[in-house]
Amino acid sequence: MEVKVKAGMEIRNAKGKAKTKTKTTGQSLKKALNEVRRIGKAEKLQEKIVAKKKANTEKAKSKGEEKILQNAQSEQESAIAVLDQIRADKKRAEAELRKTIAEQKGEGMKLDEAGLASSDSVAEVGVGAEAKTGLSSSVLESEMPMEAPMPAEQGTGEEEEEESYLRMYPVNEPYAYIKITATSPHIYKVCEVSLTRGEEELLKEIKTRLYETLDVRFAGVKKAEEFIEKKVGEIIEEFSLERQLSPESMGKIMYYVKRDLIGYGKFDPIIRDPMAEDISADGPGIPLFVYHRTYDSIETNITFDKEGLDAAIYKMAQRSGRHISLAKPLLDAALPNKDRLQLSIGSEVTTRGSTFTIRKFKEVPITPLDLINYGTFSLEMIAYLWMAVDNGANILIAGGTASGKTTVLNAIAMFIPPESKIISIEDTREINLMHQNWIPSVTREVEEEGYGIEMYDLLRTALRQRPEYVLVGEVRGKEAHTLFQAMATGHITMSTMHADSAETVVKRLTKHPIDVPLMLLDSLDIIPIQSMMKMGDRRVRRCTKIIEVTGVDFENESLRTNELFGWRPDVFEFTGESKVFVKIMEKLNMGSDELSGEFARRRAILEGMQERGMSDFQSLNKILFEYSMDPEGTEKRII
Ligand SMILES: Nc1ncnc2c1ncn2[C@@H]1O[C@H](COP(=O)(O)OP(=O)(O)OP(=O)(O)O)[C@@H](O)[C@H]1O
Ligand SMILES: [Mg+2]
Repeated sequence: MEVKVKAGMEIRNAKGKAKTKTKTTGQSLKKALNEVRRIGKAEKLQEKIVAKKKANTEKAKSKGEEKILQNAQSEQESAIAVLDQIRADKKRAEAELRKTIAEQKGEGMKLDEAGLASSDSVAEVGVGAEAKTGLSSSVLESEMPMEAPMPAEQGTGEEEEEESYLRMYPVNEPYAYIKITATSPHIYKVCEVSLTRGEEELLKEIKTRLYETLDVRFAGVKKAEEFIEKKVGEIIEEFSLERQLSPESMGKIMYYVKRDLIGYGKFDPIIRDPMAEDISADGPGIPLFVYHRTYDSIETNITFDKEGLDAAIYKMAQRSGRHISLAKPLLDAALPNKDRLQLSIGSEVTTRGSTFTIRKFKEVPITPLDLINYGTFSLEMIAYLWMAVDNGANILIAGGTASGKTTVLNAIAMFIPPESKIISIEDTREINLMHQNWIPSVTREVEEEGYGIEMYDLLRTALRQRPEYVLVGEVRGKEAHTLFQAMATGHITMSTMHADSAETVVKRLTKHPIDVPLMLLDSLDIIPIQSMMKMGDRRVRRCTKIIEVTGVDFENESLRTNELFGWRPDVFEFTGESKVFVKIMEKLNMGSDELSGEFARRRAILEGMQERGMSDFQSLNKILFEYSMDPEGTEKRII
């Protein structure tokens, strides 16, 4: 769900107090009373914690161990200090309530108009004096429900001026939201529910206990959430707080416990945000940046100090089952949720200090129809690639960093006939297919006392398993040689490469260190070129060319090519002279009219699906399957 918010709409500040421009007097009274009641609850919680700390000190005294005693005493002191602070807050809130009541009396308003039983003094309404008014706390609660917890911005302890924002959407409802400010430049603000001081203390206590009593490596613990809920329940029982803790407080505390123990701590909301493509930390003291699907690169309100950043990096490395250290400071890995990671620790290799980049995995795959809708490809280009993939063309997708190469590979791999045997080879898992007969494989780095497994090894093993389609995530080393040999021996291959033109592809492949003989490149059929570029103030991704390889020019050490499709901002031109189509005609013994008919039919089906809003991968899979069985029937149903 996404909430579009009008600029200037009421929001809460970091302390959880609502800022309203037009408060009615009754509302102010309710609010002031709520505040007193909220602080009263916090006070009770904190009193329990102080009692527990005192008991710990006594226990430590009886054991006679100096160090433990010192710790216990210092914890007791800080718990008492927090309690004093809460009591001071309570006094302030009671004074505020008194003032509000006085004002309302001045306005001639009766307290019962505000939904309260009549009462003369604030002492009678305040938390400590519920007995006098005859109001039990449950009555107070039912008459004055606490407002739903509203998230506060991270990193702001102070009250902030009301700020307008373009968009606010939940990422972990109702506890965490993302706000995009209307400032220039925009800021990506992580807003989380705020805790009362008492809740904060309790959370700290619970986390300490959990760290002490558990081996908190949840990778191996199934149903980690349930496990944590049970443990937290036990700790709360131990404190005898189960009656006092409202479900709302419990929810908030659980949120933070899970966020910090199972999640990724303060940037967990960003990890959960499907609108974030990439998250990057460029060093300590520098705000994290998010590459947002709508707002491009945007600064966040989250910053790590050195220790925090290193801890986050070690935690991610551990979660991905890999190892990073000052001795081996770089790591490429994948998180259990399939997000791709690049980590560096220390300042030897990355001079501004430790860094990380997370490329978020898209749960819902981008389909070829989505790519048409985004304007990345035209209908004709996708119809062409459908025919090419279906009929076994060798494709190498080229493009710059984050231009969408892997996305295109995944999308057009949906056109591989459903029953084909596929093997994919990658450094980190990004290829994601629906096909049953698919073996995904990933490389393994050499770690202490282990054997490293490279792309090259995987590819050689793969070829012995007689795959029809071989997919290589990104070609960059000696595996290229084997890949081109595989093409030459009749395997169908699809892969990506970092290069911005067909010329660069040839150069990179034929020169050191890859050194593929130019002759072998003749087996390649199609090179789509992906680019990311600015259009107006937006960044867009476009397939700027689809190039066919028509032969090898040995004299000039280059490929002979045919630019079949070209992007002339913002339309795609189609020359119509396709060598791949000629190959298909030969393979299927088809005439040119028949081939044109087939192309037109596939184009019309894609268009029909697009018009009916059927761009999701389930619909596409279904139609592709039906099409493979009954092309004419499918055409009739869709058009
Ligand atoms: N055509 C597109 N339109 C919109 N978003 C896209 C498009 N293609 C890819 N993306 C998004 O852009 C991000 C980068 O895409 P992808 O990983 O495919 O790029 P890449 O070129 O393979 O990157 P790298 O060079 O890091 O391997 C992803 O979050 C993806 O969801
Ligand atoms: Mg990629």
